[in-house]
Amino acid sequence: MFEYSPPADLLADRTFLVTGAGGGIGRACSLNLLAHGASVVMLSRDQGKLESLYDEAEQSWPGRSFIQPVDLGRAGAEDFGVIAASLEKQFPALDGLVHNAAVLGPRSPIEFYPEQQWREVMQVNVNAAFLLTRSLLPLLAKSADARVLFTASSVGREGRAWWGAYAVSKFAVEGLMQTLAAEVGTTTSIRVNSLNPGGTRTAMRAAAYPGENPDTMPTPESLMPVYLYLLGPEGRNLHGQALNVRDFDPATI
Ligand SMILES: NC(=O)c1ccc[n+]([C@@H]2O[C@H](COP(=O)([O-])OP(=O)(O)OC[C@H]3O[C@@H](n4cnc5c(N)ncnc54)[C@H](OP(=O)(O)O)[C@@H]3O)[C@@H](O)[C@H]2O)c1
Repeated sequence: MFEYSPPADLLADRTFLVTGAGGGIGRACSLNLLAHGASVVMLSRDQGKLESLYDEAEQSWPGRSFIQPVDLGRAGAEDFGVIAASLEKQFPALDGLVHNAAVLGPRSPIEFYPEQQWREVMQVNVNAAFLLTRSLLPLLAKSADARVLFTASSVGREGRAWWGAYAVSKFAVEGLMQTLAAEVGTTTSIRVNSLNPGGTRTAMRAAAYPGENPDTMPTPESLMPVYLYLLGPEGRNLHGQALNVRDFDPATI
């Protein structure tokens, strides 16, 4: 695993938005960004989880956490416009957007995959990521050194039976990452990558592998050195890359 122990002020004066902050990897990511000096807008569906995260964050890092409850499965372009306008009033720039929220959907062969759930998975995992990115690009462009980090999956890099819309949505996320990276690479300071966390001890992993002993999986916290590197100043040299936590080594990329 990548070893990296950045200083506590690594992300001082930077502002990030993390989707899916209510649990799992997004929660760990939000807390680690706060612990390294950033202000963090924590976006997720469940208001109760966000409020308890906010309370925890306020105790250690007062005044730097903000919560944004939103159901990405239902939000439309107007809702994202309202979120962007609100952030524009509060912050001079956005220094990072971490697209972490996703839903797994049913594990089913394509032949029997339910249409409505296909649409829901694509809505949360792809369409919402597109709409949120589009609405926040102007604020990201105001940063001297911004990041957009998409969350990938192994099944979105090589197709695998029964992963249905989840796998297809993660292929789409790679396409969105590459397209955006090609567009903003020379005209802005925004750096865009995708990161595959690999199997991680979360609710989603437990739903996908109900027979697995969760204790055999790495914790979300253990992934955080890679997230901090990519989102911090040293990550600016990486752009348009499909990265993996497991084999992450900036010296070889
Ligand atoms: N865990 C793994 O082994 C693994 C492996 C490869 C990739 N990934 C990827 O890593 C990312 C994080 O996954 P995780 O394992 O941490 O999953 P998780 O524990 O299920 O957390 C997902 C987060 O996304 C939020 N979310 C889901 N649907 C939403 C919606 N409609 N609107 C707003 N927020 C929504 C959830 O919010 P609520 O709590 O409010 O429902 C939750 O906070 C995902 O992109 C996943 O595909 C995970």
